[in-house]
Amino acid sequence: MKYFATVPLGIEGVAAEEVREVGASSVTSDVGKVFYEGDLRLMYLSNFMLRTVNRVFILILRERFKDLNDIGRLARSLTYSDFIKENMSFAVRAERYGEHDFTSIDVKRVVGAAVIESYMGEKGHRLKVNLDNPDVEFFVLVRNDEVIMGINTTGRSLHKRGYRVYNHPAALKTTLAAAMVRLSQLKEGDALLDPMCGGATILIEAVHKLRRYPLIMFRSDFTFRKLLIHDEWLEAEVAEELLEKILFTQHVVTGIDVSPKALEGAMKNLRAGFVDDTIKLLVGDAARTESYEGVPATVIVTNPPYGMRSHNIKKIPKFYKEFLRILSDLYPGATLVAITASHKALEEALNTVSASVLRKLDVMHGGLNAVIFVARI
Ligand SMILES: C[S@@+](CC[C@H](N)C(=O)[O-])C[C@H]1O[C@@H](n2cnc3c(N)ncnc32)[C@H](O)[C@@H]1O
Repeated sequence: MKYFATVPLGIEGVAAEEVREVGASSVTSDVGKVFYEGDLRLMYLSNFMLRTVNRVFILILRERFKDLNDIGRLARSLTYSDFIKENMSFAVRAERYGEHDFTSIDVKRVVGAAVIESYMGEKGHRLKVNLDNPDVEFFVLVRNDEVIMGINTTGRSLHKRGYRVYNHPAALKTTLAAAMVRLSQLKEGDALLDPMCGGATILIEAVHKLRRYPLIMFRSDFTFRKLLIHDEWLEAEVAEELLEKILFTQHVVTGIDVSPKALEGAMKNLRAGFVDDTIKLLVGDAARTESYEGVPATVIVTNPPYGMRSHNIKKIPKFYKEFLRILSDLYPGATLVAITASHKALEEALNTVSASVLRKLDVMHGGLNAVIFVARI
């Protein structure tokens, strides 16, 4: 089977590596997507294990097209009865990027009509459309002269993990946090620190990875259950295998934040994420040496304030220099992974402490252009 996963912009390479790790073959990445191949088991594994992707789709079409009519023709040429039963409803979602003389609404209309026509030709039955709660959701992505069509096996995006009971006002997307943890190359035995941890997203994602917690521990509303190809025995087998692989290991993981309210919320998230037994939270100012007393760190992964919302933007360069100076004094040789939209300020601060920047990834976060830095301090 052919699959593709949608991925936050900028972390496609990291996601491709994760997709390879779950056993996929022919893995290639593209803007905001990773394409891959594998068997039906992989549909379950992808939804239960991939921490850096949004949704997993069965790829049913990937072609070049000339115009809107051509998209309709390509969509009509597909066989839908392998995926959808007569009594089921469907919806078409569409996204469009590039210059075209049609809109994404036109794409939805044309592809919707093509699905109905093709099914009618095959089965003599007119499928019903249900835009709010469809049994099967087709996703059409038009980018320049390429059209990609897939069947959503996930439902709500996988970045909605289910453990986030407290929503920090500047919370980091779980998928980006998971990508940062991968970029840090965190492994068993490392001491992890997030000195501005907020609701603790990064720390939770890190421990989930180390302990191999499958995503099904926290949510189970996957839309693959409605598809004709769904095999509930296979799903149960995959889920059981993953649950058996969980490691209840202890880790040295510390979160610091200046806001007691954020830490109160973080504690709720730790409990909901079953990691409160191994993550320590401390109230402290990241720009003061005494906040780190007794805190070990070999890997630092953090999402400092950008200065867009809560912090005065003018104070950010000074603040970044202060906390980096302390981190490089206390933890020389540590790996630092940090995400910020104030990237010039962070780059300058990294230069000031003579850190070596190993990688820089341009990503989008909350509608802002942000950069993930990977550095040795
Ligand atoms: C962008 S938020 C982090 C959000 C977090 N990654 C999450 O997903 O919930 C930045 C955090 O830095 C904290 N902060 C701001 N200034 C600080 C300082 N001087 N020392 C420690 N924490 C600070 C804020 O309270 C806020 O929780």
